[in-house]
Formats: sequence, structure tokens, C-alpha cells
Amino acid sequence: MAQETTWHPTKFRTHTISQIINQGDDLVKSEVTICGFMEANRGKGKICFIDLRDGTGKIQVFLKQGSVTDDELNQAQSLSRESTIQISGEVAEKRPPKVPEGQPKPPKEYEVVATKFTILTRAETPLPLGVTDEVSIGLDTRLDNRFLDLRRGHVNAMFTLRSRVLQYGREHLISEGFKEINSPKIIASASEGGTNLFPMMYFDTPAFLSQSPQLYKQLTVLGGMERVFEIGPAFRAENHDTYRHLNEFISFDIEGAWMNDDDVMCVQERMIHHIWKMVSKNDQDQISIINEFRKSQGDDPITVDVPSLPFPRIEYCDAIKMIQEAGEDISWGDDIDSSHCDIIAEKYPGFHFLPRWPMEMKPFYIHHVEGEVSSTGEQLSRGFDLNFGRDEMTSGGQREHNVEVLEENLRKKGLNPEDFSFYTDGFRYGAPPHAGWGLGVARLLMVLTGSKNVRETVLFPRDRSRVTP
Ligand code: AMO
Repeated sequence: MAQETTWHPTKFRTHTISQIINQGDDLVKSEVTICGFMEANRGKGKICFIDLRDGTGKIQVFLKQGSVTDDELNQAQSLSRESTIQISGEVAEKRPPKVPEGQPKPPKEYEVVATKFTILTRAETPLPLGVTDEVSIGLDTRLDNRFLDLRRGHVNAMFTLRSRVLQYGREHLISEGFKEINSPKIIASASEGGTNLFPMMYFDTPAFLSQSPQLYKQLTVLGGMERVFEIGPAFRAENHDTYRHLNEFISFDIEGAWMNDDDVMCVQERMIHHIWKMVSKNDQDQISIINEFRKSQGDDPITVDVPSLPFPRIEYCDAIKMIQEAGEDISWGDDIDSSHCDIIAEKYPGFHFLPRWPMEMKPFYIHHVEGEVSSTGEQLSRGFDLNFGRDEMTSGGQREHNVEVLEENLRKKGLNPEDFSFYTDGFRYGAPPHAGWGLGVARLLMVLTGSKNVRETVLFPRDRSRVTP
């Protein structure tokens, strides 16, 4: 476990199932009340065995005539799978299975011998998808019934890992002096280009859903907060319908004063290193659950290989050369698309940075150093990407902190500086040089969990065709 959890008793239960599994020896012969989903029931006549699952584990419940009423026994035997129940009873050690001579004894197991059986809710039948079945289920059916999909062990493990990744990321940034902030999600002007905004009416004023906390995290640093981070939603009205694009995603952003692009790349790689190290140390149980499922599907197991530092840095110019040498028709100033990234990934299959993009390809807020030009004489920027294999994880860079240059950058992009006065005014009264990045959480989870589609790593994804559930 990532950290010791204190499970206080609640109105409905005295113990979690994991407490009984882990503290079984101390609890044998104790009275407990537990709750959960009924995964399966077996037995006829005078006995019934129930496989009970809560959010912490699974245990067997044994009901026998005399210990519970005949009515309770009948109800238990005929109950539909996934119904929720409450059981009171005594903890007992399960009879150990017979092992051949000389073989090691398996660890002790426990069960609850019921004295009271209460149905909390009955599950309707049939279930729209099987919770314990190992058959492969289409992603759409799974997403339509996410509440049930989430009860499947490997899906639950995936979202447990997601929570841990955010926890470790937070932990790491706080240890480096970053403070968590929340910026508005209803905004008046675009930061990442105007074409992919979701418009909305804010009372009588047209407004948009935020594409990125970009301008606000910068304003916060200009306000003297020194180092900030935010984990929050970003909305993009993009037409992409791919395995890695969503129209709402969680962006993990940082911004820091007195830092340049190299400094924040170092923050990024240290954070990812910490996340991987902590998952590898604390969360192998979740990885095993995912691997058990992968095995049932004929997929290779995933491993959490802590990446070594520093991550390789391949400057844009060198990346272009590498792609040209592979025989591709690409020139300076062209975007590096996924098929090009495949070429780079052949040599750098893990995390790698792509720094120093052409200035004209980067947003207006990205900084450039005068005279820092390509061999063809074009202005380079202090913007970078972080890729894993073929997929972009992060964009970032040093920001322009000189207001005249910033206004010029806006004009060059065909934007009116007056529309950004709420932002540019922040630079007029002393502005620290600063830098930051935005990381797509779902994409990072794809890497960690070996998922092939970003929708797998998002609870209720929003894409071109999905706005519900
Ligand atoms: P950018 O637009 O590159 O940069 O976004 C940052 C990261 O967010 C993720 N991402 C997405 N994930 C899923 N679906 C999408 N449609 C999507 N779009 C982006 C990617 C991407 O690398 N303001 C800058 C960041 C900065 O400079 O600080 C920005 O938003 O993983």
C-alpha cells in the first residue's frame, strides 16, 4: 500500500474485508459486520457459500442452517450476482487445502461464518457486462456501463494507480517548493489558439471553457507565488478521433519563477522518476492484478521500469535530421507527426525530450533568445515537448517575460494584444523570468498501464461521440 490507511468502522460495517484478510489471526472468533457486492453464491439445502467483495478485497462467507434463519439461507441461495449485502458473523480460519508431502503450506485464509444476512439492494438481471468474466468486452459497452466496468479488478487497479500517480506527482512537486493552485475554467480568451475552444454564454457575455491554465498559472507566478502546480480539466473542441485525444482531459501543469526551459525539464524528469519509483515500490499489487487480466487476454505483462536520469534530449533540428536520414520528406519548420515520432522512438523508445522548436511553431507565450537560430538562420524557441515512444506527453517551455516582445508575439500570431490585456498587464510591473509545462495525465497513465487507448485511463471520457455517462 502507498500509505497506511485507517479504516474507521462505519454505520454499516465494523471491518473492511482487507482487515479480516490481513488481521485474520487476531480476529478469529470475533464478531464482525462486513458489507459488499455478492460476486457469486454456491450451495444448496442447508449451506451456502458467498464470495463477497468490497473495495478492499474479497472473502468467503459461509451460511449454514441453524446459524442463520431458513429465510435468510433461501434468500442468499437465490440472490442475483452483484447485489449488495451486509453480513454479521464470526471470523474463522478456512480449512487449509491438502498439499502433497514436501510442498510448502499455503498462507492461512479466513472466512466469515454468518449469523445474520441482510440484503441491501438486489442487482437486476442480466448484468449489462460481467464483472468477473474474463471475456473481452468492447470499449463502448464498458464505457456505457462504467459503474460496472469499474468493479472489474484490473479496471479498479488502473484507477487506483491513477490516484497514486497524482499523489506521487503532487508529493514530489510539493517537496520541490511548488504550491497547488486552482485557476478558472470559464475564460474570455484563448491561450492555445482560438479554433479549438468550446464557446459558452456567461450570463450576457460570450465566454469559453478553458483550454489550459496557461495564462493564469503565469499570472500567479507574476504575483510572486514562486512555484505553482495545478491538476485540473482542460477542454479542447478538437475534431481528432484518435486513441490519444479527448475533448476534456486532465492537465497536470507547473509554472516556476527564476527558471528556464532546462530547469523545468529537470523538474519533469525528476517527477516522473519519483512516480515510477514509488509505483514500483508500493503498488506492485495493482500491477499484478492488471497483469493477471492481461495474461487471460494473451497480452504481455507490464513492468514498472524506473527510467534513468537524465532523459535523452533530442533538439528539434537533430530530430528533423534523424527523420530525413530515415528517408522521410520533411524540412525545417514542419511538424513532427506520429509516424516521424516512430522513427525517433526506434532509437529512444522511452521518455525523451524534444527541445528548441522553431519559434514560429510555438505559442505566443513561449520565450526565445535573440540570436539562438537554426543552421538555416531561423529563430529557435525555448519550447519543448516530452514524448514517450511515439506519443507526446507534455509541452512546455520558458515563457516570454518582456511585455513588448509578448505583444509583438501576439501580433505575429494575428492576435490583438488588447484582448489579452488582463494577461499582459501582469508583466508591466516587474516580471520574473519563468517557465513551466503541461502534462496529459491520461497519456502518462497509458504508458504506465500499457493501455492502448487513452479512454481506458479516464473514468468518464468525453470525445467526439461521447458526452454521457
Ligand atoms: P499542450 O496543448 O501541448 O500544451 O497540452 C499539454 C499536454 O496535454 C495533453 N493533451 C491532450 N490529452 C488528451 N487529449 C487532448 N486533446 C490533448 N491535448 C493536449 C498532451 C499535451 O502534451 N499550455 C501548454 C502547456 C505549457 O506550456 O505549460 C499546453 O496546454 O499530453
